[in-house]
Amino acid sequence: MSKFVTVAKVGTIPEGQGATFPVGDRLVAVFNKGGTYYAIDDLCPHMGASLGAGQLDEDGAVICPWHDWRFGVCDGTWLDNPRLKIDAFALRIEGDEIQVEIPPKKATDSEG
Ligand code: FES
Repeated sequence: MSKFVTVAKVGTIPEGQGATFPVGDRLVAVFNKGGTYYAIDDLCPHMGASLGAGQLDEDGAVICPWHDWRFGVCDGTWLDNPRLKIDAFALRIEGDEIQVEIPPKKATDSEG
Protein backbone atom coordinates (compact mmCIF):
# COMPACT_ATOMS: atom_id res chain seq x y z
CA MET A 1 0.00 0.00 0.00
CA SER A 2 1.33 3.40 -0.93
CA LYS A 3 2.07 5.98 1.73
CA PHE A 4 2.26 9.72 1.18
CA VAL A 5 4.13 12.15 3.40
CA THR A 6 3.77 15.92 3.64
CA VAL A 7 6.84 17.79 2.40
CA ALA A 8 5.65 21.42 2.26
CA LYS A 9 2.65 23.73 2.24
CA VAL A 10 1.15 24.90 -1.03
CA GLY A 11 2.63 28.31 -1.87
CA THR A 12 6.00 27.78 -0.19
CA ILE A 13 7.75 26.81 -3.44
CA PRO A 14 7.76 29.81 -5.80
CA GLU A 15 6.53 29.25 -9.35
CA GLY A 16 9.35 28.18 -11.66
CA GLN A 17 11.47 26.88 -8.80
CA GLY A 18 12.04 23.73 -6.81
CA ALA A 19 13.01 22.52 -3.38
CA THR A 20 14.51 19.33 -2.01
CA PHE A 21 13.02 17.13 0.69
CA PRO A 22 13.93 13.81 2.28
CA VAL A 23 11.20 11.28 1.58
CA GLY A 24 11.80 7.81 2.91
CA ASP A 25 15.45 7.13 2.21
CA ARG A 26 15.56 9.29 -0.92
CA LEU A 27 15.96 12.98 -1.67
CA VAL A 28 13.09 14.24 -3.78
CA ALA A 29 12.99 17.49 -5.77
CA VAL A 30 9.56 19.10 -5.88
CA PHE A 31 8.84 21.77 -8.51
CA ASN A 32 6.13 24.34 -9.00
CA LYS A 33 5.42 24.47 -12.73
CA GLY A 34 2.66 26.98 -13.40
CA GLY A 35 0.95 26.22 -10.10
CA THR A 36 1.14 22.44 -10.55
CA TYR A 37 3.59 20.47 -8.46
CA TYR A 38 5.82 17.61 -9.61
CA ALA A 39 8.31 15.35 -7.84
CA ILE A 40 11.44 13.75 -9.33
CA ASP A 41 14.70 12.32 -8.00
CA ASP A 42 16.84 15.13 -6.62
CA LEU A 43 20.13 13.57 -7.66
CA CYS A 44 21.45 14.58 -11.08
CA PRO A 45 22.84 11.42 -12.71
CA HIS A 46 25.76 13.33 -14.23
CA MET A 47 27.77 14.34 -11.15
CA GLY A 48 25.25 14.41 -8.34
CA ALA A 49 24.06 18.01 -8.19
CA SER A 50 20.79 18.75 -6.43
CA LEU A 51 18.13 19.26 -9.09
CA GLY A 52 15.88 20.90 -6.52
CA ALA A 53 18.26 23.87 -6.66
CA GLY A 54 17.73 24.24 -10.40
CA GLN A 55 15.46 26.68 -12.18
CA LEU A 56 12.73 25.75 -14.63
CA ASP A 57 13.20 26.94 -18.20
CA GLU A 58 10.50 28.30 -20.50
CA ASP A 59 9.50 24.73 -21.41
CA GLY A 60 9.08 23.77 -17.77
CA ALA A 61 12.18 21.58 -17.66
CA VAL A 62 14.58 21.83 -14.74
CA ILE A 63 18.10 22.92 -15.63
CA CYS A 64 20.77 21.26 -13.50
CA PRO A 65 22.63 24.02 -11.65
CA TRP A 66 26.06 22.51 -12.33
CA HIS A 67 26.30 21.70 -16.06
CA ASP A 68 22.88 22.56 -17.49
CA TRP A 69 21.52 19.09 -18.24
CA ARG A 70 17.73 19.38 -18.57
CA PHE A 71 15.08 17.07 -17.15
CA GLY A 72 11.32 17.08 -17.62
CA VAL A 73 9.75 17.56 -14.20
CA CYS A 74 6.59 15.67 -15.20
CA ASP A 75 8.24 12.30 -15.75
CA GLY A 76 12.01 12.73 -15.24
CA THR A 77 12.95 12.46 -18.92
CA TRP A 78 16.50 13.57 -19.64
CA LEU A 79 15.77 15.96 -22.50
CA ASP A 80 19.23 15.68 -24.05
CA ASN A 81 18.69 11.93 -24.45
CA PRO A 82 14.96 11.17 -24.02
CA ARG A 83 15.53 7.40 -23.99
CA LEU A 84 16.76 7.86 -20.43
CA LYS A 85 14.82 8.98 -17.37
CA ILE A 86 15.38 9.64 -13.73
CA ASP A 87 12.72 8.59 -11.25
CA ALA A 88 9.49 10.54 -10.96
CA PHE A 89 7.25 10.14 -7.92
CA ALA A 90 3.55 10.37 -7.26
CA LEU A 91 2.49 13.67 -5.69
CA ARG A 92 -0.86 14.88 -4.39
CA ILE A 93 -2.31 17.95 -2.72
CA GLU A 94 -4.28 17.35 0.46
CA GLY A 95 -5.83 20.59 1.70
CA ASP A 96 -2.83 22.97 1.70
CA GLU A 97 -0.22 20.24 2.00
CA ILE A 98 2.04 18.93 -0.77
CA GLN A 99 2.44 15.21 -0.28
CA VAL A 100 4.85 12.84 -2.03
CA GLU A 101 4.54 9.09 -2.13
CA ILE A 102 7.41 7.37 -0.38
CA PRO A 103 9.49 5.97 -3.24
CA PRO A 104 10.70 2.40 -3.29
CA LYS A 105 14.31 1.75 -2.49
CA LYS A 106 16.56 1.87 -5.52
CA ALA A 107 17.04 -1.55 -7.09
CA THR A 108 20.78 -0.99 -7.05
CA ASP A 109 20.88 -0.35 -3.30
CA SER A 110 22.71 -3.06 -1.43
CA GLU A 111 22.38 -4.03 2.16
CA GLY A 112 25.19 -3.32 4.57
S1 FES B 1 25.82 17.46 -12.20
FE1 FES B 1 23.98 17.82 -13.29
S2 FES B 1 24.63 18.29 -15.30
FE2 FES B 1 26.45 17.88 -14.22
